[in-house]
Amino acid sequence: MDRRHINDAGLLSVAEGNHMHRLQHGFRHRAICGAVLLFAFLANCARAETGAEAWLRYAPLEKQAAQEYAALPASVVALGDSPVLDSAKGELIRGLRGMLGRTLREERNLPRESAIVLGTLSALRANSPKLFEHVELREDGFLLAKEKFHGIDCVIVTAATDRGVLYGVFALLSKIARSERISALHETQQPYARIRWVDEWDNLDGRIERGYAGPSIFFENGNVRGDLTRAGEYARLLASIGINGCAINNVNANPRVLEDSFLPQLARVADVFRPWGVQLSASVDLSSPKVIGGLDTFDPADPRVAEWWKKKVDDIYRLIPDFAGVVVKADSEGRLGPATYGRTPADAAKVIARALAPHGGIVFYRAFVYNHHLDWRDPKNDRAKAAYDNFHPLDGKFDDNVIIQIKHGPIDFQVREPVSPLFSGLEKTNEAIELQVTQEYTGQQRHLCFLPTMWKQILDFDMHAGEQPSPVKDIVSGKTFHRPLGGFVGVVNVGMDTNWLNHPLAMANLYGYGRLAWNPNLYPSTIAEEWTRLSFGNDPVAVHTIELMLLKSWYIYESYTGPLGAGTLTDILGSHYGPGVESSEQNGWGQWHRADHDGVGMDRTAATGTGYVDQYRAPVAKMYESLNTTPDELLLFFHHVPYTYVLSSGKTVIQHIYDSHYEGAEQTAYLVQLWKTLKGRLDEERYGAVLRRLEYQAGHAIVWRDAVCNWFFQISGIADRLGRVGHYPDRIEAESMQLQSYAPFDVVPRETASGGKAVECRPPAEKCSAAFRFDGAAGKYEMNVEYFDQNNGRSKFRVLVGDRVVDEWFADDHLPATKPGGDSSTRRRIVGLALRPGDDIRVEGVPDGEEHAALDYVEIHASPE
Ligand code: GCU
Repeated sequence: MDRRHINDAGLLSVAEGNHMHRLQHGFRHRAICGAVLLFAFLANCARAETGAEAWLRYAPLEKQAAQEYAALPASVVALGDSPVLDSAKGELIRGLRGMLGRTLREERNLPRESAIVLGTLSALRANSPKLFEHVELREDGFLLAKEKFHGIDCVIVTAATDRGVLYGVFALLSKIARSERISALHETQQPYARIRWVDEWDNLDGRIERGYAGPSIFFENGNVRGDLTRAGEYARLLASIGINGCAINNVNANPRVLEDSFLPQLARVADVFRPWGVQLSASVDLSSPKVIGGLDTFDPADPRVAEWWKKKVDDIYRLIPDFAGVVVKADSEGRLGPATYGRTPADAAKVIARALAPHGGIVFYRAFVYNHHLDWRDPKNDRAKAAYDNFHPLDGKFDDNVIIQIKHGPIDFQVREPVSPLFSGLEKTNEAIELQVTQEYTGQQRHLCFLPTMWKQILDFDMHAGEQPSPVKDIVSGKTFHRPLGGFVGVVNVGMDTNWLNHPLAMANLYGYGRLAWNPNLYPSTIAEEWTRLSFGNDPVAVHTIELMLLKSWYIYESYTGPLGAGTLTDILGSHYGPGVESSEQNGWGQWHRADHDGVGMDRTAATGTGYVDQYRAPVAKMYESLNTTPDELLLFFHHVPYTYVLSSGKTVIQHIYDSHYEGAEQTAYLVQLWKTLKGRLDEERYGAVLRRLEYQAGHAIVWRDAVCNWFFQISGIADRLGRVGHYPDRIEAESMQLQSYAPFDVVPRETASGGKAVECRPPAEKCSAAFRFDGAAGKYEMNVEYFDQNNGRSKFRVLVGDRVVDEWFADDHLPATKPGGDSSTRRRIVGLALRPGDDIRVEGVPDGEEHAALDYVEIHASPE
């Protein structure tokens, strides 16, 4: 392992290790190296690795790596003049200065010496008609080439549009940052689809629906922020991965966004997006003509409503000539829509589409339309059928500037779902796939969950929609059914947190989303490696380790939160975060897993179930109709089976549930160990920030494990073959300790606390304690204290062995919880604790506000560590 330290001379030196390239010895050489490293160190210090730069760090390359780029020209020429081209030029200068320590000279005219030339193909050909004669580039595609221009060797970044040139510059800089060779550069890249958008679910008051990284970068107190610096920086990040559109407000849209007085505010956001080629879009509420327009109706068939939309859209384009279009959520989760007047989504989309068409704008009509008051007693009801049922009959009825935006699965961004059958249910309608970057159901950026692994499986899934293979990626990009428009929408929800998404490793999801939208043929491993190199540098051990962690993380998260396609077993009525197995049942939301005493799973077959399976094309339907051919990981999505049903793995369903949860929790702990091997290889800031989150995750995975396993044990009555579930020999329940002022209470739901009970320190008590006597052998131990960390107080805890305080902390995390339960249950790990038989161990809690220093249990394991 390499260790950096400041030597006696005050210079930074590197102690050699297995994975570092070796420094030559000798004082002079060392001094020079030291000076170089000091420069790099200071540059790093200046950067302070807050994560704000994301994958655009442009960190100084090591000397040897930089050699590869020594022959790069010393000047840059941009052929043309536009804000986007200016960004391209500025970015190139910034990137090369950062990585190579060289500042390109800006030339205004055709090069007289070797230069980096930026310009569209037409600009190049105006000067040199035969250049790249046979190259054809689609919108946003680009070419990077070493080529003679006017008889001079140049590096050329060219494209059909200025935006393509910008993308080319980012691609070139990415290659250099990842130490990729560019000596024989000749590379064309074309995006897979025209639509590569992100949606942000920001409210005008600054809060973000399903946002986990601070308040909005766009809005505060009902208005667009005065300072839009972050919005501009975000547009730059988006551009660097080829994203060309961004809808900035919640799909549960506030009608105010279309008020006349608000439009100039939107225009300010468009202004900071424009230099990065990101087009602004907004979510609109279909009742706007009535709510803010003064009409007595919003019936799309009413000519006054059509007229209102037309005028509104014209007004928008007067202020924002490159406005991209609007996003519509209607007749869904309480939003008003055309159903109010007995009209269809096609009727509603048309009226806005016709207003947008003259300006080149697009309507994204979301297929997330379902009844959330479904009768759960009716076994034929099925929310999964809603999107297809609502939209398939309308195929061909939407204008060409309408895109149906379809969530990747038929339910709602669960950790595992089959792909939505609607993708193959629309042949004469444009489509976009909606993927969720913000980890609503996948750990809320507190758990590591690299989603490109999942997205890739979805995008590659063959829908069998014709004679040729028809993977989802080809359908949504318009290839399969020869549609003029289509593509990708990612729900991101970045916030004001310096590092955009809170968990430093969560940014891999945004990067991966953009990369897959650009090229869905990329492998998740390629994406993970690219992102890691750009974000953490090129140390092969770090790259390999982080890549491995990312690639495993979705499977790990799935294994302790949502087995066999049952859906994420989270509290669907609350935060969507911690375990809440029963919350899915006996209500109208339709996220049912139908677990009862005998079995589990939704029967969606045509033969005996809801008939959902028939929404797929025949080969796919056939696969899911049969128990034998349904893959294990989706079994419970399609079939209701007894707990004793034997999976293709040879395990029974119930044993699989137990085993996968135990394995998931173990693997999460292993992620911590893997990360620790990187100590000293990464900057301290991000190393520490990730470590804290992984340690928390390892504790929370145990909360998940115990809750899900105990719930299924209770309902099935079938014991764990390995005797783990319900038996915790190292655990001392708080309610069985000697309590002073602490009082036992029942935690609801009961499986979210060990034994269903915990203790709390209720006012007027100011301090409580729970004590027990240690009766194990003398030795080194690890002690885990399971307590509840709510967001409505800051309790204090102390652990004492005899009179010795061995740990103390505040329960001051910002978890989505105001009461003890699966969202707030948190583990404090105390390692290297020397204990002797007869030691008195005491946990003290001091409550604060609504948080009553609640304590669940203490667990003590022998640990040589
Ligand atoms: C989920 C999410 C909501 C969101 C909705 C949507 O249900 O929990 O917050 O509004 O999806 O996509 O419209």
